[in-house]
Amino acid sequence: MRCRRTGRPPEQALASNSVERFVVTGGSRLAGEVLIPGAKNSVLKLMAASLLAPGTTTLSAVPDILDVDVMADVLSALGARVGRDLAAGTISIETPDVPGAVADPELVRRIRASVAILGPLVGRRGEARVALPGGDAIGARALDMHVDGLRRLGAVVDIEDGALVARSSGRLQGAAIWLDFPSVGATENLLMASVLAKGTTVIDNAAREPEIADLCEFLARMGARIEGIGGSTLVVDGVEELRPVAHETVPDRIVAGTYAIGAVMTEGDVMIRHGRAEHLGIVLEKLAAAGARIEPGADGFRVSSTGRPRSIDVVTLPYPGFPTDLLPQVIALEAVSQGISLITENVFDSRFVFCRELLRLGAQLRTDGHHVVVRPAPRLAGASVVASDVRAGAGLVLAGLVAEGTTVVHEVHHIDRGYAGFVENLCALGADIRRERDVAVA
Ligand code: EPU
Repeated sequence: MRCRRTGRPPEQALASNSVERFVVTGGSRLAGEVLIPGAKNSVLKLMAASLLAPGTTTLSAVPDILDVDVMADVLSALGARVGRDLAAGTISIETPDVPGAVADPELVRRIRASVAILGPLVGRRGEARVALPGGDAIGARALDMHVDGLRRLGAVVDIEDGALVARSSGRLQGAAIWLDFPSVGATENLLMASVLAKGTTVIDNAAREPEIADLCEFLARMGARIEGIGGSTLVVDGVEELRPVAHETVPDRIVAGTYAIGAVMTEGDVMIRHGRAEHLGIVLEKLAAAGARIEPGADGFRVSSTGRPRSIDVVTLPYPGFPTDLLPQVIALEAVSQGISLITENVFDSRFVFCRELLRLGAQLRTDGHHVVVRPAPRLAGASVVASDVRAGAGLVLAGLVAEGTTVVHEVHHIDRGYAGFVENLCALGADIRRERDVAVA
């Protein structure tokens, strides 16, 4: 009964300090099929965008993850009625005619994505107060581009008592905005602010992640006028009002990439159902260079591998570059590959916190600034490690799959933020992994 379905604890349990761990025994090969749900980093923004239109928005392919629960609470506190059908993977959000303007600071501090309500609220009702958000401990994560862009659109933005406050006396005014860096969050916020602005907004050097294209398509279905979807220049012609719609969330490329890397590390064979190979271009190229066989299919792709992977060099960059959200997983892969690998992180300044934990498993690596050199370790050996963020947690679980003996990953609530049914899915693929209450830290 190793694969007993335990699921993640409800949000309330976490709030009451329930702490859990994953216990992984290495040596199994991942084989079989896994179903990829909608993307965390899309659905949270789609939920925020529902504030742009009164009435009922329905989202499908919604992953069963903690961050969705928290975002639902953020919206409820603004007056929305949120209904969730976990079995169907849908969520319905009934947005009132006049949503609240003040987001609950306790909820907002728990997820970074909550800052995405700033754009829709100031765009729709001319006022928003959002506490400076929380999220993963992976760097400074400034909001200057969000603020500068909103100011360009005519909002007055201040920081008051630890909250970002944006106000506009009438409709925002379309403007030309050039982002210093293709920030995902800033692109999304400015897009959502501009769809109801007067006139035309041009967002240049916009982020191009598939989740942004998903948001654009959702907004377009609501009646927004957006040109350049999927490109780095978005042109938005503001409209007076939008209508609520139904929309299916784009599949999660990071979750798909995580299982793909797991298949290569364990010399396995996994069909990644609903995974979109076209959203993982460079990742799959790299895995092929590591020796994996990648076979695209009608509804996903298959990743199989035999023998110890060859080492690859990786440089993270905004999409279509190698995603920073797969960095810990790929470092774990390199820890068991056969050559020396150089990995460079260009997006966040604290991703390498993860390396400290990987060292406990016997990985041979050395960080220097935003680079890490990984040398082949004779073997990884199970140990007790701590997940510092959602992707670090996933990387540690993958390492545990190939380490000798038992690896205990603590603080798995981070993993529950982004991976629906991680334990159950890995178990079904043949891994030896279980969720336990963490008596060590309880
Ligand atoms: N940045 C600024 N100023 C800004 C905005 C961003 O300096 O105004 C910097 C950040 O500090 C960071 C870099 O720009 O160094 C990239 O930030 P970006 O805004 O692109 O990222 P984000 O919107 O905060 C989203 C995802 C992250 C993902 C990044 C990059 C969500 C909720 N989060 O974050 O996902 O890593 O884009 O792709 O969509 C994760 O899922 O594990 C995760 C961290």
